[in-house]
Amino acid sequence: MTKFFRNQSKIFMSKKKKASMIMADIIKVTKTYPPNVQALADISLTVNKGEIIFLTGKSGAGKTTLLKLLCRIETPTKGLVEVAGYDLSKISRGNIQKLRRNIGIAHQDFKLLPNRTVAQNIAISMEVSYKRAAFIRQRTKKLLDQLDLADKYDTMALELSRGEQQRVTIARAVANDPKLILADEPTGNLDSETTGRVMDLFRECNSKGATIIIATHDETIYKNTNHQVMELHQGYHVVDDEYPEQENLHASSNESLQ
Ligand SMILES: Nc1ncnc2c1ncn2[C@@H]1O[C@H](COP(=O)(O)OP(=O)(O)O)[C@@H](O)[C@H]1O
Ligand SMILES: [Mg+2]
Repeated sequence: MTKFFRNQSKIFMSKKKKASMIMADIIKVTKTYPPNVQALADISLTVNKGEIIFLTGKSGAGKTTLLKLLCRIETPTKGLVEVAGYDLSKISRGNIQKLRRNIGIAHQDFKLLPNRTVAQNIAISMEVSYKRAAFIRQRTKKLLDQLDLADKYDTMALELSRGEQQRVTIARAVANDPKLILADEPTGNLDSETTGRVMDLFRECNSKGATIIIATHDETIYKNTNHQVMELHQGYHVVDDEYPEQENLHASSNESLQ
């Protein structure tokens, strides 16, 4: 009898512990845009806290849609999306705002404010959380330096090239040290050296504790890493022999949570 209760409590503890280690859980999610475009089909994905994961697949595969579901820009047609323990279909307005302050998003189409300077664009997320002006200036300068944009601090966003806008978007996404970073094709307009700088910055954020989900079709940024890779094809999760290592890694990282 005692043994039975001990086992029960062990199961309870491990479930609780497992939940506390998960940053995002997508369970059997389907997304259909009106009138009848199926962007995601029965997708499940668990992202542990502190993980870097890559969403891959050709244009139209559903990568951007998956990222939009994670910050509730879009809602699923079927299935469950949980982020930081919140069921996003039930989350209150106050909690979604709180959650969004902890999510840094680098949009595929940048979404910079064109008539503001680079520094003003990057400052936004830090101002929302009431960081001091001196801190904001210092953090912005450091990020611009890391991304080889040191001379663009006062440049208007609309005067930047696409590759420069892309890096400003990334700087803005990570500036406030969010717990979750969603990066949509973050290296799509960059040469290999600048891509390296962006990935170094993401690794630095990750080493400070951020969970990072990167949508990309740039194989070079994930092919020699041990990170989890999920390939999508027309909304479906591709599971085939071409990706045995990633599948095994996913399985073993889940096992370590048991
Ligand atoms: N707002 C929308 N309305 C209708 N269809 C959309 C919308 N957004 C995306 N889609 C469609 O959903 C599919 C997946 O798109 P998306 O998630 O952007 O893929 P990816 O980022 O992998 O290129 C595509 O067929 C796309 O045309
Ligand atoms: Mg996309």
